[in-house]
Amino acid sequence: MRAARQRLRETRSTVSLVPTMGALHEGHLSLVRAARAAADAGIGQPGAVAVSIFVNPAQFGPHEDYARYPRTFETDCALLEAEGVDLLFAPSAAEMYPSGTSITRVHAGGISERLDGASRPGHFDGVATVVAKLFHIIEPQRAFFGQKDAAQIAVLRAMVRDLNFPVELVVCSTVREPDGLAMSSRNRYLSASERQQALVLSRALRSVEDLVANGETSPSLLIEVAQRVIATEPEVRLDYIAAVDPLTLLPVAAVSEGTLFAVAAYSGETRLIDNVILKAGS
Ligand code: PAJ
Repeated sequence: MRAARQRLRETRSTVSLVPTMGALHEGHLSLVRAARAAADAGIGQPGAVAVSIFVNPAQFGPHEDYARYPRTFETDCALLEAEGVDLLFAPSAAEMYPSGTSITRVHAGGISERLDGASRPGHFDGVATVVAKLFHIIEPQRAFFGQKDAAQIAVLRAMVRDLNFPVELVVCSTVREPDGLAMSSRNRYLSASERQQALVLSRALRSVEDLVANGETSPSLLIEVAQRVIATEPEVRLDYIAAVDPLTLLPVAAVSEGTLFAVAAYSGETRLIDNVILKAGS
């Protein structure tokens, strides 16, 4: 990878990286297209687009879906080739963690322990550690992430700032199915009825957005409304609903422009997350 990176340096001005765990869908491809556009936008030599595919064992809990996480490498490669990606980095777990795990870990303080970090202890240490490794190996100038994983973005912003990574983080909006379900590699776990029930999450977020557009600013009221909407699907089990500052992930006293309203819930055995960044009301 370092040799390939060195060769790129001779012909390309920058590298834009899209880290993924594969099983690519339109959400991932929207990041790849944004990276391609940013790489081609500069004057002079065009930049290169790099994508990584690595199902990172360090970010899965002992009883989570690491073993059954979808792996669709051949299809992923064809999709990335069609998008004009210059470089694909798809290491094995043994290459990334030669001694089994990494005893050095990146922990973004309390941010790593909030929202999904509270429900999935150690998850964000695994994410931040692998992204730090990818940044060191690939040395991108820009890296693209999806708003869908809002807490992940907060963790990585803190890491980039605190550890002086010379990388610009670019956040791209959540890509949804036509019926509102946020795209996710894990959606393929859902049965037809679980998938139908899961629509309640994006419905709840839309209700919250509507109330905020009409001037509502009370986090507890908005959370209550979202809870009520989600309760209309009794099979969906709520994990968290929160109105927080998008950088610290701490609860806000009043909703304002840029507040992150996030939800996590189980449909069947599948844990789903979704969120919106609220706009100031009227
Ligand atoms: P993964 O779940 O494969 O997601 C890779 C990137 O795609 C993340 O930045 C995620 O936010 C983005 N993404 C997923 N669904 C999206 C959607 N519907 N719309 C827009 N973007 C979407 O997130 C990870 O992998 C890993 O934690 C990783 C950062 C690669 C570290 O292992």
